[in-house]
Amino acid sequence: MTLVNQVKKTFALTTPLYYVNDVPHIGSAYTTIAADAVARFQKLLGREVLLITGTDEHGQKIQRSAESLGKAPQEFCDSVVPSFMSLWELLNIRYDRFSRTSAVRHHAIVNEFFARVWEGGDIYQGQQKGWYCVSCEEFKEERELLEGNRCPIHVNKEVEWRDEQNYFFRLSKYQTQLEEFYQSHPDFIQPESRRNEVLSFVSQGLQDFSISRVNLDWGFPIPTDPKHTIYVWFDALLGYVTALLDPQDEPTLENALAKWWPMNLHLIGKDILRFHAVYWPAMLLSAGLPLPDRVFGHGFLTKDGQKMGKSLGNTVDPVGLVQQYGSDAVRYYFLKEIEFGKDGDFNEVRFINVLNADLANDLGNLLNRTLNMVKKYCADYALSITNEDIPAENSLKTLGLNLGEKVKQAYEVLAFNQACELVLSLVQASNKFIDEQAPWTLYKQGRQQEVETVLYTVLESVRLAAYLLSPVIPNISSSIYQQLGFGIDFNAQTDIAPFEMHSQWGLLSHQQKLGQPQPIFKRIEATKKV
Ligand code: MSP
Repeated sequence: MTLVNQVKKTFALTTPLYYVNDVPHIGSAYTTIAADAVARFQKLLGREVLLITGTDEHGQKIQRSAESLGKAPQEFCDSVVPSFMSLWELLNIRYDRFSRTSAVRHHAIVNEFFARVWEGGDIYQGQQKGWYCVSCEEFKEERELLEGNRCPIHVNKEVEWRDEQNYFFRLSKYQTQLEEFYQSHPDFIQPESRRNEVLSFVSQGLQDFSISRVNLDWGFPIPTDPKHTIYVWFDALLGYVTALLDPQDEPTLENALAKWWPMNLHLIGKDILRFHAVYWPAMLLSAGLPLPDRVFGHGFLTKDGQKMGKSLGNTVDPVGLVQQYGSDAVRYYFLKEIEFGKDGDFNEVRFINVLNADLANDLGNLLNRTLNMVKKYCADYALSITNEDIPAENSLKTLGLNLGEKVKQAYEVLAFNQACELVLSLVQASNKFIDEQAPWTLYKQGRQQEVETVLYTVLESVRLAAYLLSPVIPNISSSIYQQLGFGIDFNAQTDIAPFEMHSQWGLLSHQQKLGQPQPIFKRIEATKKV
């Protein structure tokens, strides 16, 4: 299985469009970091990539948040959106589009899409009775509720009873078509556990869902009946489509879908799986549009083993975390320490230990001491040998030779932790190798060729590690590349380091002018709490 349609040279992916009822939390940061790593990896493969993120601004939840601050909803949204943009900048996220659902051009796309579904006869009026969770912006089944009519996701929030005239979308009509689609596209929902969850939900029988609200102003009116407002989820999912428009495009579906549709990947958290894996494909089928390639539902983050939440007062502030430790540190911890797809924990002691062990010691010290040895043992601070001089049975060369392909496969299935582990195994082997080979002794014995062989082998392994980790830790990777004499900055859009070339062991050459050794990651001393 590969992530991409091989004939397609483009790759479009999305994060969820985040609610702006509050500033971004660590959960939003988590998905966005993962999305950025995927985007960077796809760019290394030479694909043209479009990374879409943005904000979901309509609905009751946002309207109430605005009211509680005495602000108009638009003014309130405008005041929160910059906090997302600045966090993405802090985290070194290179998004291509920021889609805001309150944008005028989005309104045009929603109207056109609604008209298609309406004309297809999939919208009708009916009576909606049920329990509504404003925080989820979703009706809940009575059996899902916790004691005291509380939402199972927002456990401190009571659901609200609704009994109103709504417009409904004929989801039930798509039962068979969806089931057939899931069967013929086994990779559509990932990981496997989420796929099973969706299959089981759908097999219980799909019910039509309401796509309008009354007594709510903040949203787009139903074009055929403006007393009703379009349900926030119906509007928000289409934000992915609006994002595909080029800035100069007329906002039409035709323009939006011309280049990037169907999308390659929607990255989401497990709580919004149903919307993306059931409602969204059904809406698209109704509008006669092809479906995206893949929806990946990641797990939830906990803090010190406990569910994170404002009421528990144990949320992790992503801004504070990045300001204290830097973007590479945060990106590395979340991608390496948590299996993408499973729940994972944030624990500050573990955070510090992992970063010190992997980045400061294993990778950072290795580069630093090896460069210093080149300085000491080699004329003109340069290696005189090259890949051809390294025997095929050299243990690092053997490891390095097929590493690129393995890491590629891991990134393709979004197994970031595996990708990092694979690279780290080469780094650890390099540390062991240099200790065993003891170039300081070889030097004393006058065995210059062997000294240089060891140093080349280790530096080349560090280079390969830096390249393969660049989607995760682009700053550190750039610093390593520069110290090894490559004028490549992994953050620059114009610097191209093609995968076929740079993922191969043996690229380092004696022509390389090595840079001054600099620490790439400063050891963290355990002090302050975030
Ligand atoms: N607005 C909708 C998405 C619309 S997409 C067309 C929404 N927004 S959200 O801001 O509430 O959530 C955004 C994402 O954050 C979701 O993918 C959710 O799973 C994720 N997370 C929220 N809390 C989280 C954790 N504690 N851990 C990991 N991710 C979590 O839903």
